[in-house]
Amino acid sequence: MRNFITIEGCEGVGKTYQTKLLRQYCEERGLNVVFTREPGGSDIAEQIRRIILDANNNDMDDLCEAFLYAASRIQHLKDIVKPALEAGKAVICDRYVDSSYVYQGLGRGLGLEKIVRLNQIAVGEYMPEFTIFLDLSPEFAFKRKGGADQNDRMEAVGYDFHLKVYEGYKSLIAADPSRFEVIDASGTKEQTQAKLREVLARRGIFK
Ligand SMILES: Nc1ncnc2c1ncn2[C@@H]1O[C@H](COP(=O)(O)OP(=O)(O)O)[C@@H](O)[C@H]1O
Ligand SMILES: [Mg+2]
Repeated sequence: MRNFITIEGCEGVGKTYQTKLLRQYCEERGLNVVFTREPGGSDIAEQIRRIILDANNNDMDDLCEAFLYAASRIQHLKDIVKPALEAGKAVICDRYVDSSYVYQGLGRGLGLEKIVRLNQIAVGEYMPEFTIFLDLSPEFAFKRKGGADQNDRMEAVGYDFHLKVYEGYKSLIAADPSRFEVIDASGTKEQTQAKLREVLARRGIFK
């Protein structure tokens, strides 16, 4: 879908931080770009997000988790993404279907094919025009963050899981490189921001 961009990467690579800077940049220049995030991003979707991330829900079935992410995605598309695209705006979303592919499909081991099918039902034609992957291994990302947040069910699952997620992203990119813009996120915040702006300008999102 033209003008729909997603940002992916492991925990702590700088997605939230970089998106905040991009938002400021757009506001200063009057660029018509909507910034949002998954899971959540709208009222009902945020309620679903709380259930997913609640550390008390450690009995949650993996497939239940996958369906909750997909459910949150449907609502978020309806409330935020579709109206913005229809109004001629660009949308930049912090996490989307690739997160489900790698976290639930590969990390949890439900299988990529099943999660792809589930998400086809959820998003239909609303696949991103391209996806920016902030490339930094979990080893470095967690060092930056000072370790995982134990109150966040997804962050608390352990290092091996996050390594599987990182390798999962790499395999998705290898299988379909033209869908991704890979950005080395190991430099300073300013360096990563400059690379993001370069990609968004080159792809015609920042005009
Ligand atoms: N390039 C960088 N160098 C050093 N610290 C960074 C860099 N990018 C982000 N950080 C810091 O790392 C932490 C995690 O960043 P965050 O944006 O929350 O990651 P994510 O949203 O991808 O999980 C934050 O404290 C952020 O300020
Ligand atoms: Mg974040």
